[in-house]
Amino acid sequence: MKSDQFVARYGPWALVAGGSDGLGMAFSMFLAQLGLNVVIVARRKAVLAEAACSITKKHPVQVRTIEADLGDSESRDRLFLSTQDIDVGLLVYNAAVIPIGRFLDIPAEKHAAAIETNCMGPVSLVHHFANRMSARGKGGIILMSSMSALQGTPLVSTYGATKSFNLILAESIGYELSASGIDVLACAAGPTLTPNYISTKPDSSRRPPTMEMTPEDVVAETLNSLGSRRVLIPGKLNRFFSLIMSRLLSRKQAVSLIGKNMYRLYGPVSEK
Ligand SMILES: NC(=O)c1ccc[n+]([C@@H]2O[C@H](COP(=O)([O-])OP(=O)(O)OC[C@H]3O[C@@H](n4cnc5c(N)ncnc54)[C@H](OP(=O)(O)O)[C@@H]3O)[C@@H](O)[C@H]2O)c1
Repeated sequence: MKSDQFVARYGPWALVAGGSDGLGMAFSMFLAQLGLNVVIVARRKAVLAEAACSITKKHPVQVRTIEADLGDSESRDRLFLSTQDIDVGLLVYNAAVIPIGRFLDIPAEKHAAAIETNCMGPVSLVHHFANRMSARGKGGIILMSSMSALQGTPLVSTYGATKSFNLILAESIGYELSASGIDVLACAAGPTLTPNYISTKPDSSRRPPTMEMTPEDVVAETLNSLGSRRVLIPGKLNRFFSLIMSRLLSRKQAVSLIGKNMYRLYGPVSEK
């Protein structure tokens, strides 16, 4: 889609929830390059300011930053008030809490925080902004899912389950909202070289380098797919891997293979 068509369909404002760093920042930058004004939502003020500055240096669009914790319902309500005066035509829900470790070793509150940010956050923002898009008869929604949504993924159990939630939510509302002119896409990304991903890898030599993508490549493919499909696995190699896992292995075998790899990557956690 050409950038003027993209702006007409998904403008004039995009809101990137979790848009100041990593994949979210890549979305914010790419959308600004396409000509959309961008609202960036995140918690850390300094990172937000830096993100806004680097976008406005490169692209002649308006950027609004909003400090909010998407895992907190009062904070989300304040976000709705701070965006009442603008038409958000594209919502990208990118923020996520990612507890890593054995399920029982992670405090219950951390699992709850992941569900609040990764599930309640998108439900609440989609409900609010899609209602307004529906009244205008157009818009777009992108929910960040993950390849860990496609089968059980040991050591990120709750996170993977929240990402399945996003995938199913996107597919379901994608069908419902198409009648209102709203395109919905779940992006089931594989390993992506964001600062957060890099920092959570204890041993970089154990990473599968051939599967890793840059945030910019993931974002370009995702924005290209909006309107033409409801679920995207970015990257040919990731799609091939997912095909092998789903067609050639039983679910139990697939989970075992992924579990072994996760324990290898995130050692010294020992398998029980
Ligand atoms: N990186 C990967 O390998 C990978 C693979 C598959 C899927 N994904 C998905 O892609 C998305 C982004 O991943 P990423 O690696 O880019 O993550 P990230 O580096 O942690 O960035 C997340 C962004 O969200 C913001 N954020 C996090 N929690 C927030 C909260 N409670 N309230 C408001 N803002 C919040 C962060 O800013 P603040 O910290 O300042 O709030 C940051 O701007 C996630 O949904 C993840 O599940 C990533």
